Amino acid sequence: MEHLVLVLSSIVFFFILLHCIKLYRNRRMPPGPTGLPIIGNLLDLGPKPHESLAKLSKKHGPLMTIRLGSITSVVASTPYAAREILQRNDESCSGRTVPDSVAVMGCHDVAVLWISANEEWRTIRKALNSFLTHQHKLDTLRELRENVVDGMLDFLRESGRKNEYVDIGKLAFAVALNQMSNTCLSRDVTSYESDDIGGFKTAVKTLMELDGKFNIADIFPVLKPLDPQNIRRQAKEAYVWFDKVTEGFISERLKHRVSKLPRFGDMLDSLLDYSEEKETNFSLVHIKILLVDLFLAGTETSSNTTEWAMTELLLNPDMFSKVRKEVSTIIEKDGKIKEAKILDLPYLNAVIKETMRLHLSVPLLAPHKTETEVKLGKYIVPQNTQILVNAWAIARDPEYWDNPLMFKPERFLGNVVDYKGQHFEFIPFGSGRRMCPGIPLAHRVVSLMVASFVYHFDWKLPHAREEMDMNDIFGLTLLRATPLMATPIPINY
Ligand code: HEM
Repeated sequence: MEHLVLVLSSIVFFFILLHCIKLYRNRRMPPGPTGLPIIGNLLDLGPKPHESLAKLSKKHGPLMTIRLGSITSVVASTPYAAREILQRNDESCSGRTVPDSVAVMGCHDVAVLWISANEEWRTIRKALNSFLTHQHKLDTLRELRENVVDGMLDFLRESGRKNEYVDIGKLAFAVALNQMSNTCLSRDVTSYESDDIGGFKTAVKTLMELDGKFNIADIFPVLKPLDPQNIRRQAKEAYVWFDKVTEGFISERLKHRVSKLPRFGDMLDSLLDYSEEKETNFSLVHIKILLVDLFLAGTETSSNTTEWAMTELLLNPDMFSKVRKEVSTIIEKDGKIKEAKILDLPYLNAVIKETMRLHLSVPLLAPHKTETEVKLGKYIVPQNTQILVNAWAIARDPEYWDNPLMFKPERFLGNVVDYKGQHFEFIPFGSGRRMCPGIPLAHRVVSLMVASFVYHFDWKLPHAREEMDMNDIFGLTLLRATPLMATPIPINY
């Protein structure tokens, strides 16, 4: 009997101790809004979490704790707080939380977007960088990307001839898909006319939508087997489709390589070369999943930025004219725009940067997670805490940006502030080890599209400029709430 009392009191003591440790730790977490039982701060977030979090941070501070169901998150809302996470504690804060829609295929532990920043992730990033960070390798496929734009111009001229409105975001999405597919696989994967049911456009759009959707099962993991919003099932269908298609591309390419015909010199060749290097543990499975991740990470982000840039230029005719004048200085004799020549146009670059500041494509970056307990400023944040960096709020912080809600590309002229992760007041691509590896390609794709839209066409809006809807919709990327429609009027120079 004495023995039993001893065991029971030890158990009780153990649980009290555990509870005290938890309370102690929570006391050292950043402050935050008081939540409701079970759902926590869910109702505080609303349909636009980037805006709600920005407002909450004004009351609770630059580092703030929020709780959604069983998920605790720390939110950073100033450049200083972002630096604390992405630079000073980069390694400890470099994990990822994996949404249920992604976990469905069981491949997230080899996918560059979702894997922890471990040795395997380093290998995948190295394989990726061996192509993406080499300007001369990107240059090899320049002509293919320029051909994609030629196809887009033909489509626009035809629409102009018929006096038809064009959905600029939808078109930019198809172009960005083909830019990505030509960079990765030296081929087009979609056309501009069709809706592409059952094809690439549908698969990428479906996955972007599902991965960006609020899923109750993500905050209450007990619901995962029930899949209450049917997200898992739909995501699985799209992933299975992608899996089959990319497997087909790889096996076709492997046959081509055996045939000793000339290499394509694209990303797939580069990844296969890397996988054949003896000391790397980089397999065909990595390549297959990486190709899917690149389409997901690099397509809608680029088209979305292009659509917002065009929205602002159509609202600001002076800026539109300045871009056109600048682009006209680098036009080839055949009237074409060469990718290589637009990369250093200062005003075009300033327009694109200002678009990325005011209409951040990925407003909360991809959620990070603490890999260990970590000290952020004066707070202690436990392992496995989700970290959200509100890059959207940071890019509109009046302490750093004069008149932050105004679209003013001039602020970037003669200004060293860049998006390469060194200036924490402007981090549309993130910073630190998980920073976007696609910057050089994104720069090319977006610049070429915007320059071509502006140089080759005047545009007629279906409504007065003042009636332009500037609302956005929160998802994996910040989309325009109303598609940008305009009629292209071809210019004959
Ligand atoms: C305007 C276009 C783009 C924007 C705004 C953008 C933005 C971002 C952001 C914010 C992240 C998350 C950073 C973080 O978690 O801290 C990211 C990650 C990533 N991006 Fe991009 N991106 C763009 C284009 C591209 C392109 C063209 C590619 C591919 C060539 C690409 C590939 C990736 C990959 C693979 C990751 C995951 C990196 C990792 O987790 O290690 N992105 N991007």
